[in-house]
Amino acid sequence: MRFAGKCVVVTGAASGIGRATALLFAREGAHVFAADLDLAGAKSVAAEGENITAVACDVCDVAQIKALMDQAAAAHGGIDVVFNNAGAAGDRAPIDEIEAAGWDRTMDLLLRSVAMGIRYAVPHMKQRPGANIVNTSSIAAVGPGYSPTAYAVAKAGVLHLTKCTATELAPHGIRVNAVQPGFINTNIFTSALEMPADMVDQAKAMIMQVSSHAQPVSRAGMPDDIANAVAFLASDAGSFMTGASLIVDGGITVGPRHSWDPEAPGMFDALQAMAEGAVPGTGQ
Ligand SMILES: NC(=O)c1ccc[n+]([C@@H]2O[C@H](COP(=O)([O-])OP(=O)(O)OC[C@H]3O[C@@H](n4cnc5c(N)ncnc54)[C@H](O)[C@@H]3O)[C@@H](O)[C@H]2O)c1
Repeated sequence: MRFAGKCVVVTGAASGIGRATALLFAREGAHVFAADLDLAGAKSVAAEGENITAVACDVCDVAQIKALMDQAAAAHGGIDVVFNNAGAAGDRAPIDEIEAAGWDRTMDLLLRSVAMGIRYAVPHMKQRPGANIVNTSSIAAVGPGYSPTAYAVAKAGVLHLTKCTATELAPHGIRVNAVQPGFINTNIFTSALEMPADMVDQAKAMIMQVSSHAQPVSRAGMPDDIANAVAFLASDAGSFMTGASLIVDGGITVGPRHSWDPEAPGMFDALQAMAEGAVPGTGQ
């Protein structure tokens, strides 16, 4: 019961990582405000746990973020933990095709939303011992290759925002950290492709299969993997951490594929095979 009596706000709580984290906070005693664009989804999460209040909130609308934080604070005299997590794939157009409006929408959804979440939560967190914020970044912030460019740039911005606000809020005793999920089996992929509902189960089974072999830890990443990391950062066990980011990715960013996958030989393996008389390019 690490969060007994704490007031916790989670955005993007109707699905995936946000849902798992909201339920974990609730299981450990928190009063959770489960906010999402998808109010029906947030309500069904509220029905799954105790002390969860579903709130309709579009994190692209600053007035709705303020209303969310004010509602949570009014109910419990302040806010203890905020998990700024809502998100989606954003504009996936390549850099030589993306329009300014699509770029801006992606930044509003993934970066401005986090800044404004902090902006409107902090006035309610200043007098709360142990108050802290966790922001969802991504391994896409590590470098290219994991996501479209606009998404990756926004998620890198979330890391920098985390560090800057950790220093700004230190005098108030408020910690700010980030989590960087790897490939996690949620609806984010099928939603990005706007897949018809009757294909989603099949697609998720395929994601499960592919993501089981995408990194050194040979299983799919699941929402609870991230929820556990967020809860650690938000709990007293993380009380010496601020401005930090936890990469939770099954090791996908640790090194090139050949360093952990025997089926993917690297340059040295190729040269050794050549030295042993193999014919380059034939596999013999
Ligand atoms: N799944 C992954 O592999 C992965 C990897 C790295 C980072 N992330 C990040 O994790 C976070 C959660 O994503 P997920 O994978 O759980 O996806 P998800 O699609 O399962 O959940 C995202 C939730 O955010 C909500 N949402 C979307 N736009 C919103 C808005 N404008 N206002 C309020 N709510 C909104 C959706 O309704 C949904 O409930 C996102 O920030 C995402 O970028 C996911």
